[in-house]
Amino acid sequence: MKTISVINLKGGVAKTITSINMAHILSSVYGKRVLLIDNDKQGNTSKMFGYDTYDIKTIADVLTDKNLDIIDAIMPTDNENLSIITANMNLLRANLDILLDQTQQQQTRLKEALSPVSDKYDYCIIDNAPDINMSVINGLAVTDDVIIPIKVDQYAFDGLEVLKEQIEEVKQYNPDIKLVGCLITMYQKSTVNNEGKEWLENQSQYPVFKTFIRRTTKVDETTFTGEPLIIHAPKCTAAKDYISFVAEYLERQI
Ligand SMILES: Nc1ncnc2c1ncn2[C@@H]1O[C@H](COP(=O)(O)OP(=O)(O)OP(=O)(O)O)[C@@H](O)[C@H]1O
Ligand SMILES: [Mg+2]
Repeated sequence: MKTISVINLKGGVAKTITSINMAHILSSVYGKRVLLIDNDKQGNTSKMFGYDTYDIKTIADVLTDKNLDIIDAIMPTDNENLSIITANMNLLRANLDILLDQTQQQQTRLKEALSPVSDKYDYCIIDNAPDINMSVINGLAVTDDVIIPIKVDQYAFDGLEVLKEQIEEVKQYNPDIKLVGCLITMYQKSTVNNEGKEWLENQSQYPVFKTFIRRTTKVDETTFTGEPLIIHAPKCTAAKDYISFVAEYLERQI
């Protein structure tokens, strides 16, 4: 199982949209077995798949209940190759509980919890919160590939340095973690977008995907319909861009 973390300390940069659509494309276009993990108390990914409830086991239970069978937290979606571990506001409490309980390893709980199912999936995609907390550190501690969605605006590059430091720090638990690339999202033709994009492409500190995701209102619509983009609007720019992005990601794996 290859584990991918979609992360940026900035909010609203399309982490969730990228995680959902990448997971859906890997499972539906490539036939891969994918486990999607909602690692954000906002639960946006969970809601997109119709899970807006406190009646099921979530990532909070995975991180705090050592007797939990991980299978009990893995929920089906309409796509048989795509399963999900959901999140809700219980993750707020779970983050505190992890800090308070020093009797177990704090950073590698997710890694340990996922190991029994790692043969059942080809990819695990983690949609992280715009934060560095214990659940995000647990996400990074089990991650092979980091993808950073970036929306080009005045604050676009804030927090990148801190995130890079955090990735370095996590190497003590997970030496093979790798930043595979920044993905420009919500791109629209404008001077500021072009200048930001050019700056990012010409610097050498962070790798950048050649593919960028264009802005379209179709993406907002999917947050209401709960459908992945290539089902809701297969011909829209962002659907095509996400297909190209996943192809580019897979090419980089060779
Ligand atoms: N390509 C796009 N075109 C237009 N709107 C987009 C695009 N990608 C994302 N959005 C919109 O931007 C908003 C934020 O997206 P999303 O929820 O994926 O960001 P996020 O980084 O996960 O946010 P948070 O930090 O709150 O978790 C949503 O309303 C979404 O519909
Ligand atoms: Mg999100």
